Order: sequence, then C-alpha cells, then structure tokens
Amino acid sequence: MYGRARSLDRLGELERSNSRLEQAIVTYRGVLDLADEDSNLVPLPLVRMAAENCIDRMIFRGFFGKAVRVQQRLLQRFPDDVKLRNKMGVTFLLMNQGSAAKEVFEAVLQQWPDDGFAQVHYGFILKNTYKNNSGGALYMLKGIESGAEGTDDGRFYFHLGDALQREGKVEEAYKIYDRAVAKGLFLGRYQRSLYNVDRLSSRPFWTPEQTTYQMFFRKLEENWEAIRDEGAALLTAPPQDGFRPEAENLRDVGDWKQYDLFTRGRKITANCVKAPRTCSLIENFPPAAVCKRGQVKFSVMHPGTHVHAHTGPTNCRLRAHLGLVVPDGLRLRVGNEFTTWQEGKIFIFDDSWEHEVWHEGDSPRLILIVDVWHPELTEHERKTLVPI
Ligand code: LMR
Ligand code: MN
Repeated sequence: MYGRARSLDRLGELERSNSRLEQAIVTYRGVLDLADEDSNLVPLPLVRMAAENCIDRMIFRGFFGKAVRVQQRLLQRFPDDVKLRNKMGVTFLLMNQGSAAKEVFEAVLQQWPDDGFAQVHYGFILKNTYKNNSGGALYMLKGIESGAEGTDDGRFYFHLGDALQREGKVEEAYKIYDRAVAKGLFLGRYQRSLYNVDRLSSRPFWTPEQTTYQMFFRKLEENWEAIRDEGAALLTAPPQDGFRPEAENLRDVGDWKQYDLFTRGRKITANCVKAPRTCSLIENFPPAAVCKRGQVKFSVMHPGTHVHAHTGPTNCRLRAHLGLVVPDGLRLRVGNEFTTWQEGKIFIFDDSWEHEVWHEGDSPRLILIVDVWHPELTEHERKTLVPI
C-alpha cells in the first residue's frame, strides 16, 4: 500500500495532477489506518514515512486541518520528536492560528529551551500575533543566533528588526538588517521587501520620466480636482461602505484609513462606481490597472498620526501619491530622504524602501495612491508574477 501511495504521488507530480495527488493522500492515510488497527502490521519507520509524505502533500494541497490531524496522530507515536512538533507549529501558522502555534512552540521550548527553530517561530508569533515586541525580539534573536536549520529566513530578520525599531533600539535593528543584507536576504538595509525580482533598479524617489509613465502621471495631475471631489465625497459615505482603517499594525498613533479602488490588478467594482472618473483614468492605463502587486486607493490621514517606519512587500511596483487635500505639517521619509505632499502634484517612491509618515498638521490629509508595475519588468513577468 505504501508503494502504491508513492507511485500515485510520483504520478501526481509527473502529470501535475491534483486528483492523483489526492489519491496518493488517501492511500498514505490507508497505511496509517492499518497501523492503527494492528501495530504489528506496519513497521514503525514505514508509519513515519507514510505520515510525513502524507502531511507534505496535504500541506501542498492546502489541506492544513487534515495535515494537523495526521501530525497529532504521528506525535502520539513519537512524542519526543522535536522536529515533528515544530512542523505542527508551522502548520498552525499556515492556518493563521497564531494561538495554537504559540502553544506548540511554548511546549517545545519547555522541553528543549535551546531549540532555535522553535525560538524564532515563538518570537515571530509573540511579535506579530500578540504585538509583544520585546518578547518577540528576544526569542527571534536567540533563534537566529542559534544558526539552527530553518532560522536563516528573511522574515525573521525583517520582524526582529521591526520589533527592535519599535522598541527604540534603532542601531541594533540596523545591525540585524546589515547581517541580513550580507546573507543576501534583503536587497539593502533600507530595502527589505521579501518578494523581489533582483535585477530591478532601485532608488527611494523616482521622477515621472524615470518611470517612463510620465504621460499617465501628467494626466492624473490634470484631473486632480475631479479625483479630489470623488475622494472627498466618499469621505462622508457611511462607515460600512466607506474608508476602512489601516489594518496592518503600521500605525504608532492616529487615524489613517483607505478606500480601495483596485487591488492586485483587479478593479473593485462596488467601490469604483462611486469614483467613476478616477477609476476610468486608471483603467485606461494597464501598468496601474493590472498591477497584480499593487493597489489604487484613496488614503485619508488625520492629524496626530505617526506611521511606523515600514517596508512594502515587493520591489516590483512603484508607488505614486497624488496630493488632494493637503494641510501643512506633514512629512514622509523614504530611506534617508524627506518629502511632503502638494495639492494637485504627484511624487513617486519605491515603497520597498523603508518609509515613515508624520501628520503634525491640524486637518485631515487626502491623497490618491497609485501603484504601477516597475518599468523594467517584462510583459511575461507582469503576467506570471504571483499577486501580492
Ligand atoms: C504608505 O504608503 O505607507 C503611506 O505613505 C501611505 C499614506 O497614506 O501616506
Ligand atoms: Mn507604506
């Protein structure tokens, strides 16, 4: 039965067939069921191989809940296998179940306090699920220092540095970032996006001409008042169908909301009907409308807001800001450079570079954010890159 499962598995790979893969999963499970019925029937190493392949394939297919159940069964037989436990923690993370994952890694660390893999993951969860920056940093640092397999991952350096920055330990954060740059995990100490095309040229700010999209940007500027009127009208819409608060834990203090028009290269029709002129300008310009690694949105920021230094996910887009309603007292830092908004004017920056915003004025700021494909991406890349 194990041989049959392996064959189905290989066939699934060769034929790129999910149904074959699912047959393989069922057959691996059959091996495990046999072992449960009569433990003499299946040698222990075979139970383990069947279970591990089964789990891998389930995760590949996105069947996380099923994978966890097999992992739990396997752990009953191998309770002291730290790798198995850690893998189960990762599956919970893939399921977005931070608290279940935390329990798993906590239990591992009780028994094996120096396990680096559990340390980085535990720290990651403390920081991201529980917003505990100091605890998160402590464990991620220990884990990274351990050099254990699976710890050399840009995500841990990214969040360790972020936790340190938020704790005010800026120099320590940059030491971590520089280490990650040396390992090739980041493009630069300020450019820490993790989904990159490596050859793309990069600078904090771009002129319209450098993007090659200057005609489009000029058109947006020419129409800025119509865009402003649509955005401003939406500000008074009822909250449930209006602007949503920023939800990525980027705000230090304040009130910052967004109204999406396009995301991941798709038009949000229900929102676009309320901003038809803005959306038709975008729709007529494919590098923005079909930018699968970006968004088009209105962004309103209220006085007293500070947005933590942060880095976007990818270097494949450039981000244009069109000032619509702009009081005094605003600043944007990108890398080591500062700018501010002006009504009716566009600037373009690369948000894979670290950036930070302060609103120290006394009335709300409204802008239109338009992401465009990085001009050096080929047509093929624009079509095939995974959306973000
Ligand atoms: C950002 O892209 O992080 C911000 O600059 C957006 C905004 O509304 O200022
Ligand atoms: Mn940003």
